[in-house]
Amino acid sequence: MAPGEFLPHALAGAPLVSGRGGGKGPPMANRKKIALIGAGNIGGELAALVARKELGDVVLFDIPQKTDFAKGKALDLEQNGAVLGYDASIKGTSSWADCAGADVLIVTAGIPRKPGQSRDDLVATNLPIIRSVADGAKEHCPDALVIVISNPIDAMVYEFKRRTGFPRERVLGMAGVLDSARFQLFLAREANVSVKDVRAMVLGGHGDDMVPVLSACTINGVRATELISKDKLEAIVARTRKGGGEIVGLMGTSAYYAPASSAVAMAESFLLDQKRLLPAAVYLDGEYGYKDLYMGVPVVIGGKGVEKIVELPLTAEEKEMLAKSAKSVQGITDVVKAAS
Ligand code: LAC
Repeated sequence: MAPGEFLPHALAGAPLVSGRGGGKGPPMANRKKIALIGAGNIGGELAALVARKELGDVVLFDIPQKTDFAKGKALDLEQNGAVLGYDASIKGTSSWADCAGADVLIVTAGIPRKPGQSRDDLVATNLPIIRSVADGAKEHCPDALVIVISNPIDAMVYEFKRRTGFPRERVLGMAGVLDSARFQLFLAREANVSVKDVRAMVLGGHGDDMVPVLSACTINGVRATELISKDKLEAIVARTRKGGGEIVGLMGTSAYYAPASSAVAMAESFLLDQKRLLPAAVYLDGEYGYKDLYMGVPVVIGGKGVEKIVELPLTAEEKEMLAKSAKSVQGITDVVKAAS
């Protein structure tokens, strides 16, 4: 078709493809591009959610041995759009060129836990994978907001930032939204109230000493400590800390529905400039007293990425728990830093 043909009058002569920062014509709607690195269980669920919410077009990337698998999943999800009625192009690939110019990159590449394994046991396998993803991202998606989910999350996101040199505003780890969701569910079940009314925050590393912040935990403004006994709260905190492992024990592999929804909540806040206040692993440069470390703290996520790190007034006990968690995260981060 000749340029301008079949186009509304106002758009005649405008470039047919509106490049990012493109031509001189009138502004055209520009679909966002979300690249998902890893087409496993979380990757597939991420693609499904992104498509259903019409956040943009999806690229589902995996290693060459899994290209057909990624393509199959993408095709299934595109066909799902005909049933559910969403407009999204979903492409399976093992080529970084297809991810070029992505607005958001969500990284799940690597192996998930098996029963009996801790997240830290995955370092040796997942570190080279994260490094290769970082290299691809640096070359092809230099402007993307990056959300890392691969475990151990705090150390993997640290390595991603270190290797790409991307600014800290654009490199986050997903753990706090998920850990808080688990905490909220257990609190809701115990208090016998809707999960929608529970507000809770889990900070620190995504490990067994994460910090469920009871002082910031309410059921629609009513302190959880008013409605749930101390013993029950302690049991809920313990269950939250092992929340991921409980599912690995049951299924033989990692959770994926809630992890994917959690990362999508973060991506959506960025894409739609919602400025949600969510817990996420971010690079700390003195906040909460920690430096050169990734760990979960409350942040505001908007169109510029991490727009603010919120410093909560923690109780002495919570500060102590955070220090313990930071020590564990530092230990595994040091392993990553030392690995050549
Ligand atoms: C979990 C994984 C995502 O906690 O670490 O389920």
